[in-house]
Amino acid sequence: MPATVICGLQWGDEGKGKATDLLASGVSAVVRYQGGDNAGHTVVVGDEVFKLHLVPSGVLHPHITPIIGPGVVVNPRTLLTEIEMLAGRGIATDKLRVSSAAHVLMPYHVALDAAREGAAASTGGGIGTTRRGIGPAYGDRAWRTGIRMGDLLEPDLLRDRLAAALTEKNVLLATYGADAFALDDLLREALEWGSQLAWAITDTTALVQHALAAGEHVLFEGAQGTLLDLDHGTYPYVTSSNPIAGGACTGGGIGPLQVDQVLGILKAYSTRVGSGPLPTELHDAVGEHLTEVGREYGTTTGRRRRSGWLDFVPLRYAVQVNSVSTIMLNKLDILSGLAEIKVCTGYRIDGRLVDEWPLNVAQLERAEPVYESFPGWTEDISACRSVDELPAAARRYVAAIEERAGAPINVISVGPERTQTLSVDAGRVTSARRGTGAVA
Ligand code: GDP
Ligand code: IMO
Ligand code: MG
Repeated sequence: MPATVICGLQWGDEGKGKATDLLASGVSAVVRYQGGDNAGHTVVVGDEVFKLHLVPSGVLHPHITPIIGPGVVVNPRTLLTEIEMLAGRGIATDKLRVSSAAHVLMPYHVALDAAREGAAASTGGGIGTTRRGIGPAYGDRAWRTGIRMGDLLEPDLLRDRLAAALTEKNVLLATYGADAFALDDLLREALEWGSQLAWAITDTTALVQHALAAGEHVLFEGAQGTLLDLDHGTYPYVTSSNPIAGGACTGGGIGPLQVDQVLGILKAYSTRVGSGPLPTELHDAVGEHLTEVGREYGTTTGRRRRSGWLDFVPLRYAVQVNSVSTIMLNKLDILSGLAEIKVCTGYRIDGRLVDEWPLNVAQLERAEPVYESFPGWTEDISACRSVDELPAAARRYVAAIEERAGAPINVISVGPERTQTLSVDAGRVTSARRGTGAVA
């Protein structure tokens, strides 16, 4: 003990990479617990920008053991490229460990995702996935037709499982007019992945449990966000895993009572990339400001993110389902220059006032936000290093969020760089016990 979970409270891209890197200095291991290379986590250190998709964002700290847990779907091509990229930039990855139970995201998963999305998009539908094969890979896991990282080290078993999978996949791909995969080629490549990654593949649950038993601090890094959660998000416009804090248990290899604290990552406004409801979405100059000043373009796909005001309806829900102990509020600097800042406090749906998050996507599509307004500020706050230096209007906005969210804000970020970070209460930030609201 202790274990800290970091999870996104919105639709992803809240700044989990920055948060993980910040906290990593005080922990011994960072575990990615779900998702795959659909994630794009940015860490900025000085002039250097690192965009990570699979390797946990703590990797920049040499003392860290970066762990890819059993709940992750691993595209070995991406992982090997990322290891090479990091090595090329002087970052050691020899401590990386990958769960033998994590599922392999195969080239046919990518092909199926692209084929299905392509077909749906041509008729105006589709989820707007990252086309990284995430849904098909988790689908195979649930169908028990998946291949796990440990299987890459077992040639006979691998051949049997690949042959069985390809029989079905090639039929399905043909219905989309996509190319079939040849067993021998794929088997050769998969065995090569196994030999290149054998040093890292292990039982990571045992590693995590030993670390916690030895009193080490382990950080669990979520990908995506609560509103993209397969069960708790805006289904079907969601990802195929559980980004919520509970996902750290199933996907990281710990029990619920081993979680000491949950750090919820919140952007000072809302963004979403891909299809699905975003009730506070703005199609005006303010929306343009948020997307452009906030550089809201996907870290993985480069797609333009949709933007809107902060929404307390899903935020309160996210604080509950993640049992958030503390919040890190990011990108407050992006709001500088807006004359007025609005927050959504409830929805009007079919003439009724609703303040609870509707799980029905059709209702969400009809939701008209009810707003409360705050005065903005003009000052550039990116050089502020303490809460006292923030303009009064910014402090008022932060206080309003804290009051309505139902959890304390302990850290405020005013820029992408490590040092552009304000501790709200030094006492809370340094202690790490349950209930103290600590983050490190
Ligand atoms: P993640 O997926 O949650 O890790 O977030 P992304 O990395 O996809 O997107 C967050 C983006 O905002 C990255 O480019 C970060 O470098 C950047 N960022 C994080 N915190 C701040 C902040 O407080 N201010 C500004 N201006 N940028 C930030
Ligand atoms: P990070 O970890 C934002 C979105 C996609 C799509 C939906 C399903 O960087 O916050 P998928 O490829 O997972 O089947 O796509 O989820 N999505 C993300 N949006 N940030 C992410 O990751 C995302 N990962 C997936 O755009 O709407
Ligand atoms: Mg991202």
